[in-house]
Amino acid sequence: MNHSLDPLFLASLRYWTGMNLKRSNMNFEFTEEQIAVRDAARDFAQNVLKPTIIERDENQRFGEEEAKQMAELGFLGMMVDPKYGGGGMDTVSYVLAMEELSKVDASSSVLVSVNNSLVCWGIEEFASEEQKMKYLVPLAKGEKIGAFCLSEPEAGSDATSQTTTAIDKGDHYLLNGTKNWITNGGSASTYLVIAQTDKEKGHKGINVFIVEKGMEGFIVGAKENKLGIRGSDTHTLMFTDVKVPKENRIGEDGFGFKFAMKTLSGGRIGIAAQALGIASGAYELALAYSQERKAFGKEISKHQAIAFKLADMATEIEASRLLCLKAAVLKDRGQNYDLASSMAKVFSAETAMRTTIEAVQIHGGYGFVKEYHVERLMRDAKITQIYEGTSEIQRMVISRSILG
Ligand code: CAA
Repeated sequence: MNHSLDPLFLASLRYWTGMNLKRSNMNFEFTEEQIAVRDAARDFAQNVLKPTIIERDENQRFGEEEAKQMAELGFLGMMVDPKYGGGGMDTVSYVLAMEELSKVDASSSVLVSVNNSLVCWGIEEFASEEQKMKYLVPLAKGEKIGAFCLSEPEAGSDATSQTTTAIDKGDHYLLNGTKNWITNGGSASTYLVIAQTDKEKGHKGINVFIVEKGMEGFIVGAKENKLGIRGSDTHTLMFTDVKVPKENRIGEDGFGFKFAMKTLSGGRIGIAAQALGIASGAYELALAYSQERKAFGKEISKHQAIAFKLADMATEIEASRLLCLKAAVLKDRGQNYDLASSMAKVFSAETAMRTTIEAVQIHGGYGFVKEYHVERLMRDAKITQIYEGTSEIQRMVISRSILG
């Protein structure tokens, strides 16, 4: 079959590659601005985050000082329009920054990802001008931290099964329920809370509300003791008869589920880039170690058993990077990126898990102790297969897209 004459094939290829086939505009070069953002993130990660990450991981300490410095450098609202106090950067720059930060410290990079993608983006894209001025500006400047509250004790992957309720009481909603595993749960001041307002209507009876820390009846519960990303603060949140003003609902009545899905589509690019960074951080450490450590009379990198591991790691990391950048470019061009972000996330997360396990293996006994960083990266990798949609959920999104 001559594919070049098949219009269906051409259409799918155009969609797939996002390029104009007559006038190929694929470009693998970054702009000067993108390179500057990447280098700034790399310097910050190596010089500021790295010296404290082992201690913060050990003590499950949220790095307030590190977060403050990331805010000052503009990482917490890097994609927000400057008119709302953000950095006005594109999604490609965000991916580059996320990779560099995550090479060293995935606990700090998840703060960057959640604040940018799940909180700031959702408000900038869908909230009213008044809501943006009141809530987005301090979030984009990093003066306040945001949290995205969708998961519940019995609603994780099955996100439509919300049991948190928000009952319409005229000028306010009465919010009741519990949210679980909320990133930035303790350090945030602004919470986007998804809740059921009309059970009869299924996902069309779900809304999203801006809830402030300190509202009566809102309690930040226990901090989770986690396997990985131990420097990020993850909490249970409890809402008992919290009066949320009507003007704090985002969008039309019933828009909450679509808000969550659209927001998560972009969030998955951030987590894919986080997974990419965890993988490339572990790979760089393993590569350097394998060129120093000698066994049987030569550097272990010169043994094929190790060299082939490095080859596979490098190849999978490059493929992850291309998938992340593809999703970012589609988003920056205003094209649909739902499929691309799920592909980037599942592939990068699986790559992060495989690569970090191999990085520990290459380090041998040293890999099993904290000073060499790779065991932490291996523990951190696991969450990328779980949050913002498990690998199974990404495969569900991808297969539905393929199969219709
Ligand atoms: N954009 C816009 N609308 C979307 C959408 C998208 N990406 N995906 C689905 N929808 C719409 C559908 O079109 C449908 O609307 P209509 O009925 O009007 O057509 C509606 O949403 C319901 O969609 P589905 O029938 O596909 O819903 P479903 O119940 O089968 O679930 C799902 C779909 C993809 C599995 C979804 O439930 C999901 O993504 N689950 C995972 C949730 C998740 O990622 N949780 C992460 C928690 S947040 C977190 O981890 C943050 C953190 O702190 C780090």
